[in-house]
Amino acid sequence: MGDTLTLLGLESSCDDTAAAVVRHVPGHAPQILSSIVHGQAELHADFGGVVPEIAARAHAEKIDLCVEQALADAGLTLAQIDAIAVTAGPGLIGGVLSGVMCAKGLSAGSGKPLVGVNHLAGHALTPRLTDMAAFPYLMLLVSGGHCQLLQVNGPEDFTRLGGTIDDAPGEAFDKTARLLGLPQPGGPSVEAEARAGDPKRFRFPRPLLDRPGCDMSFSGLKTALLRTRDQVAADKGGLTRQDRADLCAGFQAAVRDVLVEKTRRALATYMEASPEAPMIAVAGGVAANQSIRAGLEEVAAAAGATFTAPPLRLCTDNAAMIAWAGLERFRAGQTDDMTLVARPRWPLDTARAGMLGGGKKGAKA
Ligand code: KG4
Ligand code: ZN
Repeated sequence: MGDTLTLLGLESSCDDTAAAVVRHVPGHAPQILSSIVHGQAELHADFGGVVPEIAARAHAEKIDLCVEQALADAGLTLAQIDAIAVTAGPGLIGGVLSGVMCAKGLSAGSGKPLVGVNHLAGHALTPRLTDMAAFPYLMLLVSGGHCQLLQVNGPEDFTRLGGTIDDAPGEAFDKTARLLGLPQPGGPSVEAEARAGDPKRFRFPRPLLDRPGCDMSFSGLKTALLRTRDQVAADKGGLTRQDRADLCAGFQAAVRDVLVEKTRRALATYMEASPEAPMIAVAGGVAANQSIRAGLEEVAAAAGATFTAPPLRLCTDNAAMIAWAGLERFRAGQTDDMTLVARPRWPLDTARAGMLGGGKKGAKA
């Protein structure tokens, strides 16, 4: 089983600077000893998206402080850490470099091993950190920049079953909010409006649902929403509160139907391998959506699979997931050296990554 391991993790691939300490005693649930996340939302607010240069500078300024705070909160010094894990990609290159350079400095100064981590592996392995999930399990990763259905077979073994060919669902929620004059981030505001809406009044398309497989598309949905919004506004001379709620409800229902049906298909493929205790897990900000979550829970229940969703602070970008993914690599005897490179693109499943763009759009992963 091996020894108790304590890893420091660093994350800086998008607009959150983060450091965390995670400990694992074999046979016991992993412990998050500390987790510091320093968001940059206010720095980018005026620009309508993440500005890479601003992000990189802010990461470089804050990463040391995050590390100091994470060690202090854990009550440990660097000497008491077994290895240093760092996100080495995919992401905004300036940010990833800040983290990798910091981790290399810490490793060189302390003599502790360095472990490079794929950010997406961090998300995909989170159910093992939070629920001690056994391999293999199915993961739906849905965020502002990502949408993938993955079969997670091992710490470095992922099968991509499908994903978006254009926009990520979170991006679609954000654009919808913008089109309807609702505040950002769009997901929570659209969900709140949708509660008072009739999902059947406007019938939005369910793209790619008529095609086999698990690939998805969300870009046509926002065009449909824009057209319907303009039509209603032209007919009535403006949008009422109810119109807006009905548009949100119709949009959310379309996203839910696509995610739920494609997940049902992926679950069927995964269950052909007849795992003993089938499990489906979600991660990413969109997993916070109650309607989508309920749909996925129904799919899991109908197939006799368990459903798990990590707490939101571990669904969104954080360094505890990086420390954990690094710990899994380190336990398997994998480390890196000073030649570790920062990679802007780094698909999890290299055999299938080229398929229709790999599902990565926008800054976030
Ligand atoms: O995982 P996350 O915090 O950041 C990354 O994209 O990595 O996800 C943020 C995305 C945003 O697009 C936001 O609108 C969406 O998740 N989101 C939601 C909800 N809460 C956040 N989408 C739908 N319903 C929600 N309740
Ligand atoms: Zn992420």
